[in-house]
Amino acid sequence: MQHVSACCGQPLLVDYDLREPLSRAEGINLAENSMWRYRPLLPLLDDACRVSLGEGWTPLLPLPRLGAHHSLRTLLLKDEGQNPTGSFKARGLSMAISKAKELGATGCIIPTAGNAGVAMAAYCARAGMRAVVVMPRHTPKAFKEECYWYGAEVHLVDGLINDCAALVRKLNADNALLDVSTLKEPYRLEGKKTMGYELAEQLNWQLPDVLLYPAGGGTGLIGIWKAFQEMQALGWLPMDAKLPRMVAVQAASCCPLIETLAGRQADCQAYVGHATIANGLAVPRPLGEPLMLRVLRESKGTAVSITDEQMLEGMRELARQEGLFVAPEGAAVWMAARQLLQNGQIQPQEQIMLLNTGSAQKYLDNVEGRFLA
Ligand SMILES: Cc1ncc(COP(=O)(O)O)c(C=O)c1O
Repeated sequence: MQHVSACCGQPLLVDYDLREPLSRAEGINLAENSMWRYRPLLPLLDDACRVSLGEGWTPLLPLPRLGAHHSLRTLLLKDEGQNPTGSFKARGLSMAISKAKELGATGCIIPTAGNAGVAMAAYCARAGMRAVVVMPRHTPKAFKEECYWYGAEVHLVDGLINDCAALVRKLNADNALLDVSTLKEPYRLEGKKTMGYELAEQLNWQLPDVLLYPAGGGTGLIGIWKAFQEMQALGWLPMDAKLPRMVAVQAASCCPLIETLAGRQADCQAYVGHATIANGLAVPRPLGEPLMLRVLRESKGTAVSITDEQMLEGMRELARQEGLFVAPEGAAVWMAARQLLQNGQIQPQEQIMLLNTGSAQKYLDNVEGRFLA
């Protein structure tokens, strides 16, 4: 299988012919309470190959107590922690493993910070495929343990996800397994883009003013923006619809986008990052950096970095004020909103959308006992 474009080594993206009219009524199956309600906008050819655990169609929750506490008019959170395997990675891996099945693959391999590996292991189990997961040794135990329960082969590496990717290349030198590394196949992005469709549908086709997303490899950020553009091309959103300013939130110990945006490096290719309690944000050299920067530019958005201590503060606040036990990545997003409110880049009367990408349950090794400030 071809993994990236032959001309520039950049990710391959799925393009649909959107000239044929497809109304919302035709394009959305209202009876399907999963991301597969947008079936015509997903690249599977044979429905018999669909591998699903009920991913997507996650709740969009108002945060009235937290909002009132910070004098905000509309604060919303899309809770991706309620997905199968506890994170938004379920969307991408449901799509990728469905496509793998359609393409006749018998096994898949992935370098992961944790959540994507667990999701791949689960969907491979459901598809009856072999799963090989390569993750950093310091990943919390619950991620490894869940992979074992799904019957995956797990390899541990001293380093971050880019070091795992090097081992994946070695382990899969004979290409016996389908490599579903972030943005090295086009299908995970298609699963992730359904978050954009859901946001629009759940908000009655009025998008928020600002959308904050925790960016590691960036598939969610790129995918949501792709969804907005597809919906404009389909006429589901007006061509002149006001699209949200997209904010990429990174960890202070691993923030390649911020360094590039600030002009301190030409790009992330030599960036050195360090571990964070938000394991999913420890991605020092994302292949999708140019695509992420394009989204920030086109949406007039920005990038923000948040320390581990701030993430813990955000976790405490969301847990106590709203009863939500969000992953450190989701807490980072809330703290980024606070930072942008403080420096005037977000106004309190704007509609603010937080994307919580995962549940905190698997992160206990990182956050245990830190519920007191
Ligand atoms: C909970 C969580 N949030 C955010 C991310 C970053 O996702 P992406 O690599 O698609 O930007 C990850 C990736 O592992 C994650 O597990």
